[in-house]
Amino acid sequence: MVIAGFSSNLLKATGCERIHGPKALSRARAVKVQSSLGGWKKQPLMKEMSNAVKSISSNLLQLLVDSTYKFSEQPVMNEGNFRPVNEIGEAVLLKDLEGYVPEDFPEGVYIRNGPNPLNPTKAIADSIFGSTQCTYFEGHGMLHAVYFNKNDVGEWCISYMNKYVDSETFELESKNNQLAFIPAADGQPYAMLVAFVLNMLRFGRPVKDSANTNIFEHAGRVYAIAENHLPYEINIYSLHTLGPYNVNGDWEQPFTSHPKKIPSSGELVIMGINPEKPHYLVGVISRVFYILLNLLTTNNISHEQADGQRLLHKVDLQFEESKFIHDIGVTTKYNIIMDYPLRFGISRTLLQKPIFDNDMNGKSRIGVMPRLGNVESIRWFDVGNHCSYHLFNCFEDGNEVTLNEKQK
Ligand SMILES: [Fe+2]
Repeated sequence: MVIAGFSSNLLKATGCERIHGPKALSRARAVKVQSSLGGWKKQPLMKEMSNAVKSISSNLLQLLVDSTYKFSEQPVMNEGNFRPVNEIGEAVLLKDLEGYVPEDFPEGVYIRNGPNPLNPTKAIADSIFGSTQCTYFEGHGMLHAVYFNKNDVGEWCISYMNKYVDSETFELESKNNQLAFIPAADGQPYAMLVAFVLNMLRFGRPVKDSANTNIFEHAGRVYAIAENHLPYEINIYSLHTLGPYNVNGDWEQPFTSHPKKIPSSGELVIMGINPEKPHYLVGVISRVFYILLNLLTTNNISHEQADGQRLLHKVDLQFEESKFIHDIGVTTKYNIIMDYPLRFGISRTLLQKPIFDNDMNGKSRIGVMPRLGNVESIRWFDVGNHCSYHLFNCFEDGNEVTLNEKQK
């Protein structure tokens, strides 16, 4: 969730270009074909041919899915608190509220993010390859915002708005209001593998950009995020999605849904996991008042340095295998690394193994890394075999570092 006051200069429209997705892939392929043949005169014909081939391939794959798969409802995903709500799109003034808002409460907005499935009646996929199903975590991200404003006579006006995060894959599925991606995150290993492959062939990625896990603020900008794709920048006034965020092109893989801001400096610490090497990266993004420090020390100031969007540090921790690590901790001086034996990877399905596997005999360790340190500077501490997703708090006390976590 994110809480933002309206008094600060919060949002600027970003010039981020959408950098991945089927459109980008098809555009890249078309350019390559045209270039290899040379001559601008051939471009319209080649473009038409490329589009035709793409269209035929897409239609054949869709035909394969339509003729092979049967989709059905997963009732628990469509009941009670899990039942999706409709998008209202525009702010609605809330009336007949109970309680009161203190006079000195700041004007601003409270936003939470969470999964809101578009097609809950098609959450199970059965085919000759086996069965797969959606998990609770796979609904498209919906932002719920409560705005606190005062009118001209100082009375509180509280309004609510919700809106889907307009990710590239949300556009795919909402365009025709039907399921596009085959559920792939849970089910029988072989069926999951086929679902991943079919999703890759049709859309250029194995699963959706759900953007449904968290919303965070950094340097006056706000982002919706899930850990399997880049964050999407959000306009908090309209809840419109402005585009994916890749730290000015310096960070091209997903990062944790729980980035940590350093209270003393304002820098943002991120980490990203990947089934392929590099399996674990740590990054540090500049703080917003970097310009102030520069003003004091040098007259050489660039716009990139000034807006708190610069990747100051990026380091590969050189993990030998992919681990599912969901969070990272910070103290004033250190990054706290969890390295627990929860392995994951799509290729595991080739061996008829589940994507996730918690090795009960595996090694668990915790790393203490200086904020801008390298892999050699990390001091590792072996701990008893366990796994956890979240850190509650980390702090320094003299020469000791303490972390609190919830064990899973
Ligand atoms: Fe989490």
